[in-house]
Amino acid sequence: MGARHLLNLSDLGPGGLRRVLDHARARKLARSGLPNGTADSDAPLSGHVLASLFEKPSTRTRLSFDVAMRQLGGEAITLAAGGLQLGRGETIEDTSRVFTQFVDAVMIRANRHRDVEAFARVSGVPVLNGLTELSHPCQIVADILTVEETLGRKADGTLWAWVGDGNNVCNSIIEAAGLLGFRLRIAHPEGYAPDAGFVDAARARGAEVELTTSPEAAVAGADVVVTDTWVSMGDSDAEARLRDLKPYQVTAGLMAAAAPGALFLHCLPAHRGEEVTAEVIDGPQSVVWAEAGNRVHAQKALLLWALGKLD
Ligand code: CP
Ligand code: NVA
Repeated sequence: MGARHLLNLSDLGPGGLRRVLDHARARKLARSGLPNGTADSDAPLSGHVLASLFEKPSTRTRLSFDVAMRQLGGEAITLAAGGLQLGRGETIEDTSRVFTQFVDAVMIRANRHRDVEAFARVSGVPVLNGLTELSHPCQIVADILTVEETLGRKADGTLWAWVGDGNNVCNSIIEAAGLLGFRLRIAHPEGYAPDAGFVDAARARGAEVELTTSPEAAVAGADVVVTDTWVSMGDSDAEARLRDLKPYQVTAGLMAAAAPGALFLHCLPAHRGEEVTAEVIDGPQSVVWAEAGNRVHAQKALLLWALGKLD
């Protein structure tokens, strides 16, 4: 059997996402109070090394994968794609075959999802998608973890509202809705719909995924309100985006239409005054810092899953 890859959340399978979430939470609780650089008592990835390869900038993904490996007892090497021979024409496939010689797993943040697929196709070690223009699966594991620990119940059956651009992060939330069975309403302007394939797949799994152009309709009674930047890395039409998405700002007024005590999520980096007001993101319903911190716990469970240590 080939290596196990995480290119999208559906690679985990329905039971797989729940196992990853529960393991992340249990492992987080088990190391409570330890300094960040101290390994978990079982150090399950002792002797293993991860290479993280970035074609685009990153703060959270970079830090959390590095710290995740340390906490699992392993090592991490972080590489900028521009410093590799890739930039001089070495193919993705040859690069992948070389990585397989040196490391036990690879995390890639890439401009094109198809490049991560090409890398994974010939890789002898697990490949994890650390964000492409299509999806951001690792982020959503942290998001759900944050919702479950804050609400004190499983996300299954909760109602989520996505407001804004139907982008890579939105696509992965759609996948999660299909895998866990939470309800999802997405408010986006014309021309900013999420990927139809993700919507169809989630609906085929029985998930309730509604698309609307009305932010008010999307958030009505929602337990969770999520947004993201209006201009993602690689988007070249910033001016049009800022204009078209303006009516989709998450404001205190919009949050008031959600369920009482609804949580506000944002994968970050945020742009106060664009997709969200400072009042909301810095206010009492925002859980964005816990969400960022949970990236490390999500990454750890995903790495263990990919390396076949979580069955
Ligand atoms: N949310 C997220 O992936 O952040 P970075 O771009 O900083 O990694
Ligand atoms: N949608 C954003 C997410 C950043 C973490 C982007 O792709 O730039």
